[in-house]
Amino acid sequence: MTVAPYSAARARELGIDLVDIAFWDRPHEARLADFARLRALGAPVYFAEPRVPLVRAGKGFHALVRHADVVEASRNAKVFSSEPAATSPEPPPWLAKLFGTPMVNMDDPAHARLRRIVFRAFTPKMLARIEDEVQAIASRVVDTVVEEGPRDFVAQVAAPFQLAVICAMMGIPEKARPYVLSRVDAMTEYSGVRGSLASPRTLRLLYGNLRAIVDLHRLVARLGRVRRERPADDLVSALVNANPDGERLSIRELGSFFDLLLVAGNETTRNTLTHGLKLFTDHPDQRDLLLSDYDAHIGGAIEELVRYVSPIIQFRRTVTTEYELGGHTFRPGDKVVLFYPAANRDPEAFKDPDSFDITREPGRHVAFGGPGPHLCLGANLARMELKIMFRELFTRLPGLRASGEPAYLLSNFDNGITRLPFTYSR
Ligand code: HEM
Repeated sequence: MTVAPYSAARARELGIDLVDIAFWDRPHEARLADFARLRALGAPVYFAEPRVPLVRAGKGFHALVRHADVVEASRNAKVFSSEPAATSPEPPPWLAKLFGTPMVNMDDPAHARLRRIVFRAFTPKMLARIEDEVQAIASRVVDTVVEEGPRDFVAQVAAPFQLAVICAMMGIPEKARPYVLSRVDAMTEYSGVRGSLASPRTLRLLYGNLRAIVDLHRLVARLGRVRRERPADDLVSALVNANPDGERLSIRELGSFFDLLLVAGNETTRNTLTHGLKLFTDHPDQRDLLLSDYDAHIGGAIEELVRYVSPIIQFRRTVTTEYELGGHTFRPGDKVVLFYPAANRDPEAFKDPDSFDITREPGRHVAFGGPGPHLCLGANLARMELKIMFRELFTRLPGLRASGEPAYLLSNFDNGITRLPFTYSR
């Protein structure tokens, strides 16, 4: 039985349009209330997508908003494919030809091969090796806040910290880092709105995004060639020189991986930190509990933070074969979009899902993606960074809190904050 037309009509009746950028400009509580109404419809709802110049015409997608459906689509990668693309809407084929395909947009065996190579960046041994460096970066960032005085948490803490960690992992020289940050901002601005605005603004952002990708590829390709000649003790050297199985990244694959690290790893942790400050300000009881025994509570606090915030809003899959999911029969070629904020507030999966409770039993949220081959590679790195940075902040800046309302990024991909005033007792 196909229920798409019924569902699409119901969503229109309810006045919900996930494709309209205006939806993502609404307060978070209003969006979450709409997700609750979509979950209650009982079957995934279809949304048509507009045609955007130069970008592949949108075929439209069914929104997966229930926790069980997001988990199943993530786990069953043979039916729910990440090819041709897991981002929404799909980038045009010429983009992959120009810049290569990032691993999020691949299925096995190509995906498994890449994951085996880049996994080296995220092993417990590798993470332990960079832990001291992450700690040193966190201390330097807080030193600067103490010197300058608190103004904007994003500009002074979250953005420089996260970027420095990724650049340190890759071995990007310090002086190139502000340039890398400006390129990442251009990419994020585009990924937030594309497909939602068939307008000159989309084209301008698309152009800015392409320029940014070219610039970053050039930067890292230069570094990759140097490291092939003269390997150092850094990640780029490990990736471009063969592992014991003889596998290595090509210079082009290195460029795609770097883009992915910067977009997947940079925005996410920076936004989680910033949302964290806001949440611990709004929930002083949870903050006091955390600080009463930091080591005992920080693990649970981080899991609850990413569940509550869902720093990444969505990824996409393409259906490969006829399949029944959540009360709908999908046909080959159908698209589904996995909405993590909706799944992470599903009362079927979480008791009292809208309360922020750092003692909640962890383990079920899908903020790092559902279980399956694409589960976030950087999750343990993100956990380590958040643990180190919150400790540094709360111990060195007593009374730390947000002192005004955040400015939110207009995006259907990153749950981003672009500015958050803050203060502490000096
Ligand atoms: C709070 C922080 C983070 C969140 C919420 C997050 C979220 C996600 C999600 C939802 C996916 C799944 C994509 C899919 O199923 O198609 C993913 C994949 C990925 N993430 Fe993260 N991420 C975070 C931090 C990081 C960091 C710090 C890095 C690296 C520095 C990273 C690197 C990656 C990579 C490489 C993938 C692709 C894995 C694959 O396709 O096999 N992430 N992330």
